[in-house]
Amino acid sequence: MSNIVIIGTQWGDEGKGKIVDLLAEYADLVVRFQGGNNAGHTMVVNGEQFISHLVPSGIIQGKTCLIGNGLVVDPAVLTQEIDYLNQKGINVNPDTLKISERAQVIMPYHRHVDHARERMKGDKKIGTTGRGIGPAYEDKATRRGIRFVDLIDTEDFSEKVRTIMEEKNFYLKNYLSAETLDPDKVIEEYNKYAEILGPYIANVSVTIDNAIKSGKQVLFEGAQGTHLDIDHGTYPYVTSSNTVSGNACSGAGIGPKELTGVMGIVKAYTTRVGEGPFPSELFDDTGDIIQAKGAEFGATTGRKRRCGWLDTIILKNSVRLNGLTGLVITKLDVLGGLKKLEICTGYNYKGQIISDFPASLKVLGDCKPVYETLPGWSEDISGVRKFDDLPKNAKDYIKKVEELAGVPVQIVSVGPGRNETIVIE
Ligand code: GTP
Repeated sequence: MSNIVIIGTQWGDEGKGKIVDLLAEYADLVVRFQGGNNAGHTMVVNGEQFISHLVPSGIIQGKTCLIGNGLVVDPAVLTQEIDYLNQKGINVNPDTLKISERAQVIMPYHRHVDHARERMKGDKKIGTTGRGIGPAYEDKATRRGIRFVDLIDTEDFSEKVRTIMEEKNFYLKNYLSAETLDPDKVIEEYNKYAEILGPYIANVSVTIDNAIKSGKQVLFEGAQGTHLDIDHGTYPYVTSSNTVSGNACSGAGIGPKELTGVMGIVKAYTTRVGEGPFPSELFDDTGDIIQAKGAEFGATTGRKRRCGWLDTIILKNSVRLNGLTGLVITKLDVLGGLKKLEICTGYNYKGQIISDFPASLKVLGDCKPVYETLPGWSEDISGVRKFDDLPKNAKDYIKKVEELAGVPVQIVSVGPGRNETIVIE
């Protein structure tokens, strides 16, 4: 397997958690490289469900999991998640989980600012998860961030927090009409996290390098999706980090030549949480059927996801941006029972057919999907384990996706369980 990056090709929630958990069997290390607890990975093993927001999904397989420097980490959430997983019998300790000393710490004022801003924006809100992710990345870029290496240096930490919070409280009070925060309380709370998380902090870049040099296999776990990438996504309705495969290098601290493959996860249809244009969105009964059958609610926010047909303009954009070497189609079972299936193969923009994903949201908002229609299948495919045993129309659907994307489909997922999977030889 070597060193593979797993990437969401759409707007996130493609089912990366299940696939990372599945592939983690063949990996020694599993590494997250961007985002924070705005991700929500769901794994189902022998009927038992595990949800993780920060700890890489490989933890369920007992693999060493690393949180890279590219993340913004809320220590309150991380300590709770460690407890939750340990209570569920998953062994999370400083040997199985390491946090980069360079990862950024989410502070209470980040969450506070996030909420206050969304409140102020009213109808024009971005639809952030309110977890302080964006404000933490802002502070990283403006060099006001606090890293884990700073968190454990308690004396230095207090001084930094007091200086930063003077400015934060001024901003909260005068610009956002929000309550201010008490620096003493913040310092006291975070000193506790420093004590708990201190033993987990490591130089993750060195850990990965040593592993690769000794022939170990590393799986890089992307969060969110390519079209939520801060540069390449539907800006400004995006997340605050680069979600594309290239960021596996800077967000984990390795060079590009160490990566041997990039696997794109594509849901058999398209979903999106929050605001922003979505050309193949369905507003009819079919959309409701997919939403209900696919249980399309966010794992982190509980928000209902918008649903639509598979959009291969988006998929092809992902193939190029990530250099995909293989595809995994997830949730194919959800499409069972629909008489006909549409696949978006182009956009009609004011009478012109375009096949590249536009940068302008105004243009994207005016794009009408061009569809190719395929017949559906009525059989329940969740029990199928071999490609050849799938109904003909399901096989044709997979082949059509492969043909349009120009990348081989290597795995098809037909249910949330680890075993509900078809590996295509
Ligand atoms: P983000 O990083 O937040 O984008 O999450 P994710 O890509 O890991 O996806 P998430 O786990 O939020 O959503 C996928 C949901 O679909 C979970 O509830 C999975 O258990 C479920 N799931 C995954 N694969 C399949 C499948 O093939 N069929 C069905 N029916 N459900 C699936």
